[in-house]
Amino acid sequence: MLMRRRTAGLLACSLSCRARTSFAAIAANVTIKEGDLLKRIDDSGKTFLTSDDVLHEHGPVLCWPVSPDGKHVRKETSYNRLWVMKSGIYGMNGFIAYSAICQHAACLVSDWDSRQRHLICPCHGSAYSVDQGGRVVAGPAPYSLPYLPLGVRQNALIIAGVFSGQIGGHASRAD
Ligand code: FES
Repeated sequence: MLMRRRTAGLLACSLSCRARTSFAAIAANVTIKEGDLLKRIDDSGKTFLTSDDVLHEHGPVLCWPVSPDGKHVRKETSYNRLWVMKSGIYGMNGFIAYSAICQHAACLVSDWDSRQRHLICPCHGSAYSVDQGGRVVAGPAPYSLPYLPLGVRQNALIIAGVFSGQIGGHASRAD
């Protein structure tokens, strides 16, 4: 049986489909930087995500990136939202952060299939395997869901590299 966890407050999918949004525009908006910390989207305090937090979760944690000094939560654009989780992907140090923006038409990827370990977009049903580098396993998304490698600094998880591919909706791309 398909087990899905819906993220409170996100079901409304504040990012409606943006089929006409170009990648160039999306890339200009994203402000995630190497060395950034991570913070739960539903946490109003000043707690940063640790490797222990993720290990004790049953699924991915939806996060904002935070500047390395911990002062600026980078929530100026929804495209900065990240799903953080433990990963068996080789070379990822055990932790990984997937973009939460669907590769089809930029809805928020808000559902989690805990049995198959798929992130799912509720707009048109695209599903991404988190254990296969975000590979598309269902739906119309034309590309894998990009991920960022994470590192650990004093037990806090930090962004440790760049996205594996172009993020955002691609429904309007010519290719
Ligand atoms: S926007 Fe996600 S499947 Fe269409």
